[in-house]
Amino acid sequence: TATTTADLVTAARAAGRGVAAFNVITLEHAEAITAAAEAAGLPVILQISENAVAFHHGRPAPVLAAAVALAGAAAVPVAVHLDHVQDEELLRSGIAAGVSSVMYDASTLPYEENVRSTARVAAWAHSQGVWVEAELGAVGGKDGAHAPGVRTDPAQAAAFTAATGVDALAVAVGSSHAMTLRTARLDHALIARLRAAVGVPLVLHGSSGVPDDELRQAVTAGMVKINIGTALNVAFTSAVRAYLAADPDVVDPRRYLRPARDAMTDTARHLLHVVSHAPSP
Ligand code: G3H
Ligand code: ZN
Repeated sequence: TATTTADLVTAARAAGRGVAAFNVITLEHAEAITAAAEAAGLPVILQISENAVAFHHGRPAPVLAAAVALAGAAAVPVAVHLDHVQDEELLRSGIAAGVSSVMYDASTLPYEENVRSTARVAAWAHSQGVWVEAELGAVGGKDGAHAPGVRTDPAQAAAFTAATGVDALAVAVGSSHAMTLRTARLDHALIARLRAAVGVPLVLHGSSGVPDDELRQAVTAGMVKINIGTALNVAFTSAVRAYLAADPDVVDPRRYLRPARDAMTDTARHLLHVVSHAPSP
């Protein structure tokens, strides 16, 4: 069933659990994530980034419609979210297409400009009934620009949240986007300080590079929305590569997309259990 990110994040926080938000690039991603949530019996967030929309020729409607339709048909609650958006036109079309929440990313702007533009976008999104996530202290790793040393300051995070009125805050605590190996170490003391300082739920970006135990600890320390993208792409591409190596004459894409989708489902199901603090079967 379709639900809202607001409801999923509120319920997860109250239960001391995390809620996984997986990035959707292709239809197979959305199908795999939904199947994983159904198999795990856990809710999930399907998130589509501005970069993913750019891949789809800059047209958000088809990929959003697929995600919204899968959410509506799912046996578990599924929310649809826009991720890392800077283009305000995409915010408008996403809301029209049925997303319940957006991440507006002005994290690379100077602090005062981040506050100003985020406050303006949040006020408008709230007038549309949409939940808003913003980022302070760029997580890094996007476009290859790793910034592993960047950390969000708790006092600045509290001021930012109060000044912008956002519903959730993405913070830099040691993870980095697009890691294919799970070697990140998080600053758990900082997560606890951020949770104490900030009234809204915290969001972990770049979670693919974070080992299972670190993810569990991060949720215990106060991270609620756990964003995962690259881990599914590692599973997808590894499965395609293995299939093509074993059958170089294959033509029908379903032959290799099926194992690729299955591999994403397995990875997503495992990570859903990890972030929800449920034992993996
Ligand atoms: O917003 C998306 C996430 O931060 C995904 O990051 O691809 O490194 O898991 P990741
Ligand atoms: Zn991110």
